[in-house]
Amino acid sequence: APAPVTVTVTGAAGQIGYALLFRIASGAMLGPDVRVKLNLLEIPQAAQAAEGTLLELQDCAFPLLAGMEVFEDPVKAFDGANIAMLVGARPRGPGMERADLLKANGGIFSVQGQAINAGAAADFKAVVVGNPANTNALIAAAHARDVPASRFTAMTRLDHDRAVAQLAAKTGAPVSAISNLAIWGNHSASQYPDITHATVSGQPATELVDQGWIADEFIPRVAKRGAEIIAVRGGSSAASAANAAIEHMRLWVQGTPAGDWTSMAVPSDGSYGVPAGIVSSFPVTTSGGDYTIVPDLAISEFSRARIDASVAELLAERDAVAELGLF
Ligand code: NAI
Repeated sequence: APAPVTVTVTGAAGQIGYALLFRIASGAMLGPDVRVKLNLLEIPQAAQAAEGTLLELQDCAFPLLAGMEVFEDPVKAFDGANIAMLVGARPRGPGMERADLLKANGGIFSVQGQAINAGAAADFKAVVVGNPANTNALIAAAHARDVPASRFTAMTRLDHDRAVAQLAAKTGAPVSAISNLAIWGNHSASQYPDITHATVSGQPATELVDQGWIADEFIPRVAKRGAEIIAVRGGSSAASAANAAIEHMRLWVQGTPAGDWTSMAVPSDGSYGVPAGIVSSFPVTTSGGDYTIVPDLAISEFSRARIDASVAELLAERDAVAELGLF
């Protein structure tokens, strides 16, 4: 049997971690034939809770689970890692300034980038979930000098799935009938969920909904869905975020279906006027473990303005972390 794939999950004792680990171990991410070894990275205060999760993972008797361990040292946790799910991050505390938040997370992701550089496997792939996800991915990549920056991505698949679900609800179509929807920009309220290329059962989505709904209901609903979940549920998105992280990595490893794409925040190659290097969401296709930004899409004036606004926010975040010496 081939060697198990080592998957490092940071923030393993958090709420997303709890919703994520069992599904990875069950085969939902890498398929029913791939054995996995789970490396759980936590801070010392939460390591014991992560040990508790290991007991429960053991009690599932997952046939694909080839090993599991809790680490407090990033160098050990990323040693031999093929895949990293970078979930652990510092949340914004009461009265915390944006610069403090960027600084706290910059500290986490620079250390993890160095640890990845020291020992990750040659086929290493990372998805950053912890916020500010795009900028955290930028920082981690900058500190992993020997790993191609393209291997550091950030998650906008939750936004993508939220957008698919809203378009399905509006048109009365099943979610499976919707394809070619895209998220552009930052995983933040400035993101641009774009249905100009989307189809619903093969019909252009823009023929089924009007511009007023797109601008005044759809985009803000998707962009502010995280806040809506907090208001209604009394806690931030966890299972849906874990599901999206699995989808992000599943599609990257296993490939996007013919005729469709996914949304991933990836280091820009300058496509669509997004400055090279910043980690911005694009529609991408994947095959053989590589991804390609979908080329040559027509961008409407409306789309252009939305993409530019979100990219401007990403550039401001990059400049802020550069000022802090993190990038
Ligand atoms: P949580 O607070 O329940 O868990 C975070 C965990 O990370 C904690 O157990 C904490 O001990 C751990 N942690 C903190 N620093 C760490 C470090 N240096 N190394 C390893 N572990 C560390 O938070 P939750 O709900 O699981 O969310 C995690 C992150 O995901 C947050 O930043 C949240 O904003 C983000 N998020 C991103 C989404 C996206 O679409 N990109 C969607 C939902 C959440």
